[in-house]
Parts: sequence; C-alpha cells; structure tokens
Amino acid sequence: MAQPIYVFDAYGTLFDVHAAIARHRAAAGPDADRFSDTWRQKQLEYTWTLTLAGRYVEFWALTERALDFAFGRFPSVNRSLKPQLLDAYFTLDAFADAKAALARLKQAGHKTAILSNGSPKMLAAAVTGSALDGVLDAVLSVDVLRFYKPRPEVYALVTAHFACAPDEVMFVSSNRWDVMGAVAVGFRGLWVNRANNPDEYADFAPIRTVADLAALPI
Ligand code: 2OP
Repeated sequence: MAQPIYVFDAYGTLFDVHAAIARHRAAAGPDADRFSDTWRQKQLEYTWTLTLAGRYVEFWALTERALDFAFGRFPSVNRSLKPQLLDAYFTLDAFADAKAALARLKQAGHKTAILSNGSPKMLAAAVTGSALDGVLDAVLSVDVLRFYKPRPEVYALVTAHFACAPDEVMFVSSNRWDVMGAVAVGFRGLWVNRANNPDEYADFAPIRTVADLAALPI
C-alpha cells in the first residue's frame, strides 16, 4: 500500500481556537474561558444547523456571529474587544506540536493536507501565520461545496484531490464528531483528544487516540 496520506482538521487540531481569548485574557476578565467555549460551540452549532437546513453562510461570518452571541451571553466581557478577538482568530496560533508533527510526516515521505470548515482566506492566514505552508501539500476548504462537516461529500474532497482510496487516508482531528464523519466514509481516524474528553460515537471508532500530535503514530 502507498504511504498513507495524513489529513488534518484545522480549528481545534492544528490551530488553538482558545488562543484568541488567551491573548486578551486579562481584558476579557473572569468569564474568559466560558466566553471562549460558548464562542466555539456556537460557531460549530451554526455549521450543523445551517447544513441540516440546506443553507450556507461562510465560516468567517459564522465565527463573527458566534462571537456576537458570546458577548450577549457574557456581558461582563467588554464588546470593545471584538476587533482584537476577530484579528486574533484570523491569524490563530498553531498548537506547539503542530509544525513538528507535520515536518516529521514530510520527512517520512507522507503527503499532508488540511480539510477544514474554514474559508480559504481564513485558512491562508492561519497557515502562513504559523509558517505551516512548507509542510502541507494541500489546504482543502468546504467552501467550494457550500456545506459543512460531517457531510460525506466534504471528506470526498480529499479522495478527489489525491485520487486515492478512502483507506489510504489517516484523518487527524481533535473533534470527535469530525473523526466520526471521516470514519463513516472509510478513512482511518486518529483522534487527538486534547481536552481529555470521554469517548463517544462508539460505532465510528478511531484506530488510535492520542493526547497530542507529538504522539501521532507514523
Ligand atoms: C474545522 O473544520 C471543525 O472547525 C473545525 O477546522
């Protein structure tokens, strides 16, 4: 079998969605973490509800709408922070283990890619901002399809781009529901359980669960 192709989810897996609030934690105040969790949850919820309704709004707009909801839910966080939080999200910090893991995969001869809900402009900013462009063969966005993960057609962007079979893909995500979507189409799943969450979606199991990308099996 050809070398597996390693495909990574972006937000939550390579990029730390809570890095935006972390840059402004003091200014955000004591509700910072609950604010950031609500921001992330609403961002994802909108992708699922709109996709189920057969509608599409691109991920940057949903990210801003989710941020507005979080401000409404936590009035203790000053709305004047909105532009800085959006700027921070646009060039989101990569996790410390991301670049080394991708470089290790490239050195071992694997193809690597991102498959993300992020819009092309968001992904370009995050990838170049974290200097990951040199260790990625492709950056694939759902935007071309105008609906979100875990729709099976989204994962098919990978097999189409690389002209490969599903079982040649090792799909790496910290989002367990995203691993479910990938396993459901025949990818091998690697769950990066960064938050040390309980497992779920038992009928769509990853081949391996790791705590971070340093433990990624190559
Ligand atoms: C991504 O698609 C799920 O937000 C995550 O990058």
